[in-house]
Amino acid sequence: MNANAPTKTTNPWLYWFAVLTAFFTFLLLGLGGLVTSHEAGMSVPDWPNTYGNNMFLFPPAQWIGGIFYEHTHRLLASAVGLMTTILAVWLWLKDSRPWMHWLGVAAFLLVVAQGVLGGLRVTMHMDSLGIYHATIAQLFFVLTCALALFTSRWWKGLERQPPARR
Ligand code: HEM
Repeated sequence: MNANAPTKTTNPWLYWFAVLTAFFTFLLLGLGGLVTSHEAGMSVPDWPNTYGNNMFLFPPAQWIGGIFYEHTHRLLASAVGLMTTILAVWLWLKDSRPWMHWLGVAAFLLVVAQGVLGGLRVTMHMDSLGIYHATIAQLFFVLTCALALFTSRWWKGLERQPPARR
């Protein structure tokens, strides 16, 4: 049998959702870089609110200057946080490999920590927290790429290969 042939354990929807999560995370890293390079980190002085508004109801007419970069960064981060939560629950329920359950949980915890760190960098006015925020961002991106790889048909084909004879 072709080792790469799809089996019952291959879930293309889960795989493509993991790919989409990694792709959105990639965009988020770029947007975060724009926040830093435009020195827009403190353009929105409060968190989790945005100028006293629920961040999801902040009027688009006010997304101007540095606020645009910081606010869209927060919105995209919220989307990535939601996608990561869905991915972790999906893995827990549907992936047959226990270590994948815990990798999903690790991604969930990391995205929560990352969001809180971004918020604290604003509320505590601490530039140095931005360094940890940037580092965790890259670790998190690698983790989302790993989840996409490990849910792929290609990877599962490798897992099914018999050990090589010496
Ligand atoms: C999945 C979640 C997030 C990821 C992956 C992420 C990623 C990043 C990245 C890559 C940067 C650029 C860092 C650099 O170039 O040095 C950045 C900057 C920043 N992020 Fe996030 N971020 C996330 C969530 C948040 C949230 C929820 C906030 C809430 C306030 C936030 C606030 C900031 C701020 C203020 C900066 C600018 C830091 C500075 O210039 O000192 N981030 N983010």
